[in-house]
Formats: sequence, structure tokens, C-alpha cells
Amino acid sequence: MQPLRGRRILLGITAGIAAYKAAELARLLIKDGAQVRVVMTPSAGEFIGPLTLQAITGEVVRDSLFDPAHEAAMGHIELARWAELVLVAPATADFLANAAAGAAHDLLTTLCLASTAPLLAAPAMNQAMWRHPATRANAQTLQARGVELLGPDDGEQACGDSGPGRMLEPAAIHARVREFFADGRLTGRRVVLTAGPTREALDPVRFLGNRSSGKMGFAIAEALVAQGADVTLVAGPVALATPAGVRRIDVDSAQDMHAAVFAAVRDADIFIACAAVADYRPATVAAQKLKKGDSETLRVDLVRNPDILSDVAALAQRPFCVGFAAETHDVAAYAEGKLRAKGLDMIAANQVGVSQGFEADDNALLVIWPGGSVALPSQSKRQLASGLVELIVERFDAQTAAEDPR
Ligand code: C5P
Repeated sequence: MQPLRGRRILLGITAGIAAYKAAELARLLIKDGAQVRVVMTPSAGEFIGPLTLQAITGEVVRDSLFDPAHEAAMGHIELARWAELVLVAPATADFLANAAAGAAHDLLTTLCLASTAPLLAAPAMNQAMWRHPATRANAQTLQARGVELLGPDDGEQACGDSGPGRMLEPAAIHARVREFFADGRLTGRRVVLTAGPTREALDPVRFLGNRSSGKMGFAIAEALVAQGADVTLVAGPVALATPAGVRRIDVDSAQDMHAAVFAAVRDADIFIACAAVADYRPATVAAQKLKKGDSETLRVDLVRNPDILSDVAALAQRPFCVGFAAETHDVAAYAEGKLRAKGLDMIAANQVGVSQGFEADDNALLVIWPGGSVALPSQSKRQLASGLVELIVERFDAQTAAEDPR
């Protein structure tokens, strides 16, 4: 079993004597199936050769912010987005100071600023440096910001002193990384999902909308957080509280939703389109409130909205895509058609209109993916969301394993 299979770990190495132990740490992570990319501070190379790490990880080791081979394509931002976890071992007093201050004068500190991935750091320094009030304050600042410090250990130091400041052994750091990813089945994974209806303006006070309550999408967001995922919820206008731990972006129209999704989805692992997006919007939005006039009828020209899900599924580097299909009849046939037409990895279909679906608290789903399906019977939307997220995790894991058969 490889508990870290496919996990993307950025290993930062700073200039401490313990840097030689980073090679063993990288080896342990790779053996567990992780993808490890190494970034060294410029002087870390005095303690360990980049070639050693390159041979272990099979990846080019980077140590410069100004690397013409990578920077043309904004290499450091890509690397920051790529990482699911930033692990700095050893982390010197200087690194802790720079990270606490938000400084970005080398590639590693820049990546720490640019990445939204959690940061674990294993401090390593002389005991007096670790005990110094400046280092204490920096450690506290980082911890208050959610950075996890691993160690340091107490004991004999390379300089002959004895006390706190030894880097944790690679095996102990490796064990913590395993734990980190085992917290939930989606720990470290980024998920973007849409929920609720959209509103398509006719004039400043009127809109075309639909009956979606957003309950299903919000329940899915909650179930994703319970599995440890980093969740961005793009919500249409709904009167629901934001589930704890969810990043929420409120939008109104389909076009707004499209823009918000594309701003968030680039580095997502999974995209779930649960929103009831209006297929059409009024071709023009009146600047002032429309007047009744004398006519018994009113013609409104509608134009097609972009299909958010199809557009995400068509991305070259795309996340695992899950769609929904709300149908009044022939549910399975329409859902299968949509799965194929939109090029999805999974679709969850439900029958609407017979006292279930949009505004109800209960729902049932037929979940279909290429080569399989499961019917989740009628139950509360919260229970249903947990069941659906379980299925998504299974299919997502199977797909990741097939793409990276190490
Ligand atoms: O084609 P249909 O609208 O029935 O497909 C439904 C699925 O596509 C849902 O997952 C919905 O969130 C998504 N969708 C979208 N953008 C649209 C229309 C639908 O993301 N404009």
C-alpha cells in the first residue's frame, strides 16, 4: 500500500546542518508514492548537493527565483499551485523569521507566500537560537497563522551544545506527513463546487430564476469539509448559512458564476456542478424598470448562457468533473447522455417535480460514471451528500491511481 500515492509535496530545504537528512526524508516520501519537488534556499547547497535530491525525486531541484527556464511560464506560481503540502525540513531560524515576516527574497519564501497549501516546518538550529525571544516570537506568529511546527527534538547538537533545536528524525517527519494526509480521504485536495440558482436580470428589479434552494450543494460542501477537503463554494442567491470551513463566493447570474468558477478552478482536483444554472438570459437588460404598456403580451429575447460544467470539463488540465441532472422523466437515459455529451467523470441524477428535488429536504440520486452506477435511495440531503462524496472519493482515487500507476 502507498498511503501517499499521487500526493504533491513541495519539500523546502534551508541551510542547516540537518539538511543532509532531507535526502532520507525525500526517499521515504517517494517510497510511499508521493510526488516530491525540492526547492532549496541558495545556501542550502553548501550542506547537501542538489544532484542527490534530483536523483531521489526524479525532478529538477530548484534554488533560484530567477531561473529563466522556468520563470517565463511563471514557474514559481505554478509550483505554488501544484503543491498540496509545503514541507520545510530543516527550517532554520532565518527561514522562520522570513516566513513570519512574509518576506519573499528567495524562491522558497516566495513559494510559501504564493501557496495556499498548508505549511509544515521542522525547525533545526542551535539551542540558544531556538530559545531566543526573536525565534520564539516568530514561531508563535507562524503557529497562530496555522503553520505546524514539527519538533524540534531535544538533545546533542552538531555544535557540541545540548538542548532543543535538533531536527526531528526523517522517520518522525514522514509519519506526521502520513497522518496529515490520512486525516480525511480528501485532505489536501481542492474542490470547487457550484450551488443554488442563478438570476438573470430583465431590468433593475426583475429577473428570471428557478426553484433551486441550494440545500444539496451546501450539504455536499459540508460533507467535503468533513473529508478534509479545501472547499470553494460558488453560490447563487440562496438563504443558507455557509458551512464551517468553506470558502464561499456569492454570485448572481450564470455569467458571474462562470467567471467565479474559472477564477477558482485552475488548481482544483475536483469540480462539482450542483447549481441550477439558467440556460438562457435576457438578450438585453433594461436600464430602467420595464413598464406594462398597453400590450397583453411581452416578448423577451433570450440568449444562451455559457455551460460552466462543459467548459471546465473541456480544460486541458481538468479536475475530476461531477455534474447533476434534474429531470422530470427518463432520468437514467438523459443523465447518461449528459455524462457523455459533457465529457464528465460522474453524474448525479434526480427526478424533480414529484415532491422531491429542488426545495425538499429529502432527495434520491442515481449516480452514474463511465462503467458503473449506484442508486442512492431517498434520504436527507445531508446523508445523501455523504454517500455521494464517498462515491466521488472512490472514483477519484481509482482515476488518480490509474493515471499514476507507481
Ligand atoms: O444540461 P443541463 O443544464 O441539464 O446540465 C446540468 C448540469 O450542468 C448541472 O451539473 C449544472 O450545474 C451544469 N450546468 C452548468 N452551466 C450551465 C448549465 C448547466 O454548469 N449553463
